Amino acid sequence: MERDWNRELFSFIEASPTAFHAVKELETMLEKAGYQRLREGEPWTLSFPGKYFVTRNGSSLIALDLPEHFDRYMMMAAHTDSPSFRIKADGEEKVLGLYSRLGVEKYGGMLCNTWMDRPLSIAGRVMVREGDKLVCRLVKFERDLVLIPNLAIHMDRSANDGKAFNVNEDMMPLIGSFELQRSVNSLIAEELGIRAEDIVSRELNLYARTPGTVWGADREYISAPHLDDLMCVFGCLQGFLSKTALKQAAVFVALDNEEVGSSTRQGADSSFLEDTLRRVWSASGRSDAEYRQALAGSFMVSADNAHAVHPNHPEFADRNARPTMNGGIVLKYNANQRYVTDAVSAGVFTEICRRAGVPVQHYSNRPDLQGGATLGNISLTHVAVRALDIGLAQLAMHSSYETAGAKDTEYLIRAARLFYSSSLLWQGGSVTIL
Ligand code: CO
Repeated sequence: MERDWNRELFSFIEASPTAFHAVKELETMLEKAGYQRLREGEPWTLSFPGKYFVTRNGSSLIALDLPEHFDRYMMMAAHTDSPSFRIKADGEEKVLGLYSRLGVEKYGGMLCNTWMDRPLSIAGRVMVREGDKLVCRLVKFERDLVLIPNLAIHMDRSANDGKAFNVNEDMMPLIGSFELQRSVNSLIAEELGIRAEDIVSRELNLYARTPGTVWGADREYISAPHLDDLMCVFGCLQGFLSKTALKQAAVFVALDNEEVGSSTRQGADSSFLEDTLRRVWSASGRSDAEYRQALAGSFMVSADNAHAVHPNHPEFADRNARPTMNGGIVLKYNANQRYVTDAVSAGVFTEICRRAGVPVQHYSNRPDLQGGATLGNISLTHVAVRALDIGLAQLAMHSSYETAGAKDTEYLIRAARLFYSSSLLWQGGSVTIL
């Protein structure tokens, strides 16, 4: 064990109830490590060597460690968002003359039952009027504030026989009594020390308050909210920050909106990564043709958690490719290319893991079940580099409280560290990892 990585992971997760908060945490960590902020709306004058980061929408971030000379990008990407419930713009409702509750919409595909009967709170961002300006402020209530109550078994005898959840009826969180005078905006105003009437607009999510924990007879498991995909965001970033050499441009990518298909201004299906790589390239004074040459030699690891074989439901795992928690990094394969791993990219990354002393395992969907897609194949339609999809094995993906292997955080950090410290030399059909 190096540092207590799981404790650090839990602190990161607790500070990151939304993608906005996750990016703010990443900015803080990067600034502490000497990285300078670039803004998309300003000119970029870069130094080589130089350490930079840039954000888009406050919910996606790209960090760059640039050596004096480089001719390819070594990239790892993960996603900052998680399934949650979004509170509607006029979400407050009074019902039955008894309760105040909130109208919500689903963000992504969560396991609804895991959001019930547990302390929840609210986090997000608001636009606040300050004089003649509108200022974006993050908000996060550090207390148990709302709860979604189940229906008692006596009123729903079939609740254990497969229940359908209707968001519009079953998932409306309770926030207080009918007499509650304060709107969510006035609670935010108190929290931020501003006037409620100065809050012009808002983007608020529910988040689960249960803290992360290490558990099991041998403390072999971890559980926390948002392990998909903050475990990979954290692991890739720690590897990026602790690389031991810098032979090529190291690029850390954290993108929003993976859970809703990535087709947003800041998601994997946007120009964010391409724009950033091109601007860095042109700041180095080289041609577009040379940029394309560089891409041909570049490499991306798309890191998003994977399914471990389930102790009670092994039948949903593939017969052969069934990862286990604490079994090391999972390479994800899909013949139809929803995962981009191929023999070349898997070979390169497996060799890096072997040199880093990190075990690897393989995942395929059960051939008759459709799995999820992730960042890899979407990013590659914008930035055509060699790439593979990896993840860490976990249970209960998209639960409000997910479970993974206690050793796997460090495995990812070690693999990421060596990946970012390496360069790839392609010659004909061969590749040398330097
Ligand atoms: Co994910």
